Amino acid sequence: MTQPATSLPKLKDVFQDQFLVGAAVNPRTLKEQRTLLSEHFNSITAENEMKFERLQPEEGRYTFEHADRMMDFAEEHGIGVRGHTLVWHNQTPAWVFEDGAGGQISREGLLARMKTHIDTVVGRYRGNIYAWDVVNEAVADSGPEVLRESPWLSIAGEDFIARAFEYAHAADPGALLFYNDYNEAVPEKREKIYTLVKSLLDQGVPIHGIGLQAHWSIAHPAEDDIRRAIERYASLGLKLHITELDVSVFAHDDKRTDLQSPSEEMMTRQAERYETFFRIFRDYSESITSVTFWGAADDYTWLDNFPVRGRKNWPFLFDAGHQPKASFWKVVEDKA
Ligand code: GLA
Repeated sequence: MTQPATSLPKLKDVFQDQFLVGAAVNPRTLKEQRTLLSEHFNSITAENEMKFERLQPEEGRYTFEHADRMMDFAEEHGIGVRGHTLVWHNQTPAWVFEDGAGGQISREGLLARMKTHIDTVVGRYRGNIYAWDVVNEAVADSGPEVLRESPWLSIAGEDFIARAFEYAHAADPGALLFYNDYNEAVPEKREKIYTLVKSLLDQGVPIHGIGLQAHWSIAHPAEDDIRRAIERYASLGLKLHITELDVSVFAHDDKRTDLQSPSEEMMTRQAERYETFFRIFRDYSESITSVTFWGAADDYTWLDNFPVRGRKNWPFLFDAGHQPKASFWKVVEDKA
């Protein structure tokens, strides 16, 4: 397992006939994981640097520096870019929803701001981003409502979603446009996502795919639920992207904070899970055209300290030293 990096199979080569293999990156990992990223991945996504709050912190003041650097890295290495994300209830600055005089912006005002943001951002990278997460996480996890409470919904009304897709399509007619969400394999939420996307298609909205975030763990979700979700979404005739894959080594009720390294049992279980997941992705590779991890190696993951403070996690195929884990070999070897 300690082969020199050059003789390792490369993820992007292993899956070249099936789907792109991507990683979320940030300014730190673009430096520290540079070699790993350029060797194994043929798609990247900004973990945070293309979110509304990062690109337009104040009205009309755009900050593209970090996003541009990521685009340069991608171009230099012939890597594709997934854009993430245009319209979301999180990481969006408060000014977007305010009228500047202590009140709330009007529906027309909010849609105009949405359009300006999308025109500017999508227009800047037109032709260089193959897919955008246009709307992120608009569906409610539970309860009778399809859509979750948010300022987008309460101010603009439910057609904020359709408008976002229309604006994005006008700004870059060549980009594939995605609706992206988590808990995507949970049956109750799956049906809501299906209902939302079907209604967009029925209205003729330019939407091309569904993003399955796939923040999964060694315990959840069940294989059958994943297959059912993929089949249900694929039945709409859309492309599917796995957009934020990671496999936490902790089950939901495991709140231990004392581990300095993952147990052998965790690594074995994670490898089995990864084997299952990639078998599923291969089975549905007619529909699944891109699989993005929400990071690349265990030295950096948003799951460190979340949702349990003071706890490290080890969710990827490569360890903190960028060496392949048992999970890597299961994914690669099951290919044969
Ligand atoms: C969601 C978002 C991502 C990211 C993760 C946590 O899944 O879509 O952009 O913020 O949460 O890192």
